[in-house]
Amino acid sequence: MYIVDRSKRFVRGFLLSYGPQMIKRRVWDKEFSEGKWNFIDDTRGDCVYAHLEKYAQKGSILDLGCGPGNTANELAADAYSSYTGVDISEEALAKAATRTEANGRAGKNRFVRADFLEFQPSQRFDVVLFRESMYHIPIGKILPILNKYSHHLTDKGVFIVRMYVLLNGQVKHRPMRMIRLIEGNFDVIEKRQTGEWGATVIVFRPKRNGLQTRS
Ligand SMILES: C[S@@+](CC[C@H](N)C(=O)[O-])C[C@H]1O[C@@H](n2cnc3c(N)ncnc32)[C@H](O)[C@@H]1O
Repeated sequence: MYIVDRSKRFVRGFLLSYGPQMIKRRVWDKEFSEGKWNFIDDTRGDCVYAHLEKYAQKGSILDLGCGPGNTANELAADAYSSYTGVDISEEALAKAATRTEANGRAGKNRFVRADFLEFQPSQRFDVVLFRESMYHIPIGKILPILNKYSHHLTDKGVFIVRMYVLLNGQVKHRPMRMIRLIEGNFDVIEKRQTGEWGATVIVFRPKRNGLQTRS
């Protein structure tokens, strides 16, 4: 049973990082419609919000892999002026839009259905966020994707990544490799882990001497 579960998790993880866009979209839509992700509907008090408030400085946020609108609706309304959420799942975005409307934030939150590996923003942002979504970028694409979005940061803009690097006391190797790539290629401003086994939040910006290529 353990081997079957592990194999299923491996196949899912592989498809969600390396699969074609249509497959990724179908898997996420199915999981959201079946309620697998209902537990993230309410994440008030999450460790990422203090960082978002600090670095958005009442400016603009791009949330890549935004999910069902938790960040867009739980973040203090006066902490930002505009928010763009990008997600591959129509199901997640439908929830995000409904929630935004009910919350009276339709004037400042907007949502786009796209694969963040291919999305081309039309503006610059004060914060580009990957909250529990960087796992779904192939390792070989981490630096090219971060370099691409670096062009869409304002002069004082930063990336914020939240992810679990430890699970049940064990290091998760892919997320750890992602953190190492970030640390080796960007200027890290802050890195915090919540509690002994909690999520890591890392805040960073492009090095002043240009974009990074070392993988
Ligand atoms: C675990 S959920 C995290 C949602 C939310 N950011 C949070 O932390 O609560 C991951 C989200 O990333 C989205 N996602 C995964 N791969 C994506 C891709 N290639 N492009 C856009 N969204 C993607 C999924 O649809 C899902 O909503």
